[in-house]
Amino acid sequence: MAFFVLLKCLPAALLLLSICASPAAAGRKLVSGATTPTSSSMAERHEQWMAQHGRVYKDAAEKARRLSIFQSNVEFIESFNKEGKHKYWLATNQFTDLTNEEFKATHTGFRKTAAAAATVKGFRYENFTAPSSMDWRKRGAVTPIKDQGQCGCCWAFSAVAAMEGITKLTTGKLISLSEQELVDCDVHGEDQGCEGGLMDDAFEFIIKNGGLTTEAKYPYGGVDGTCRSPTSAAAAISGYEDVPANDEGALMKAVANQPVSVAIDAGGSGFQHYGGGVFSGECGTELDHGVTAVGYGKASDGSKYWVVKNSWGRTWGEKGYIRMERDVEAEEGLCGIAMEASYPTAS
Ligand SMILES: *[C@@H]1O[C@H](CO)[C@@H](O)[C@H](O)[C@H]1NC(C)=O
Repeated sequence: MAFFVLLKCLPAALLLLSICASPAAAGRKLVSGATTPTSSSMAERHEQWMAQHGRVYKDAAEKARRLSIFQSNVEFIESFNKEGKHKYWLATNQFTDLTNEEFKATHTGFRKTAAAAATVKGFRYENFTAPSSMDWRKRGAVTPIKDQGQCGCCWAFSAVAAMEGITKLTTGKLISLSEQELVDCDVHGEDQGCEGGLMDDAFEFIIKNGGLTTEAKYPYGGVDGTCRSPTSAAAAISGYEDVPANDEGALMKAVANQPVSVAIDAGGSGFQHYGGGVFSGECGTELDHGVTAVGYGKASDGSKYWVVKNSWGRTWGEKGYIRMERDVEAEEGLCGIAMEASYPTAS
């Protein structure tokens, strides 16, 4: 028996949290935040930020609470960037009015499920000699950045991005496929729509379902819905394989061949406020988010990185992507990126 963790998909439900944060937690934050007077220029920045991100608060008290969190985050971001010793920088984004506790809050909903140990399916890229860099975006195998919004279905976005990749590689066509079909229809196994899921289970469903339809025909709604079937499949997969765990070398061989679904720990404040550069942590290995490795390379200063496609829109990170440090000391990889990687196969 092995334990698999349903990916609850940070930062699902964050907008909800920002409205429904528990009074106790919010109260504590308010007290600590209120010790620093908020300058009018900070209030102005907060207004601009609200307009930019379409944020609306339910009342003045909530707005004041969010302004104080916004201010402490902006101060954190600016002091981090001023240190000038990091390979990455932080920036304001849609998460700047959330405490890291709120950002991480989806950890608490973690459901560990006992599942049969994954059957060994072989690793077809075992003997492949990977080139020193790869970027599937440049080869037309990656669709534009999507946004999961408030629904915790990162697992669907991760699986779909990997499937879009193998579909391009086997058919020559880049087709944006439907996450919502997974959210609505993959409900009889471990996957739980907006409440979390696993990429491997998504692949299992897609195989049984005979494929997935297009994003255009079954658009993303961002909430759990009723399965609209039958749908006509626009692409199919024939199987999936797990990358040998805790082996960044194996992950490199896989990513050299196709976009790969990876699970990471995305709960840290560095991840929350990531602006760009080669992210080097801090983060743990409590896997809570599904994303897709779409390349790897080396920066001009020699830092090796993974190119990771996220599903938080283009306002986060490097236009929706993050470069994460590669070949780190820990065998799990940075933020556990080498722990649960897998990819679909198509014949
Ligand atoms: C890799 O090479 C070894 C030794 O030649 C062989 O036994 C193994 O089957 C190969 N693996 C794959 C996936 O082809």
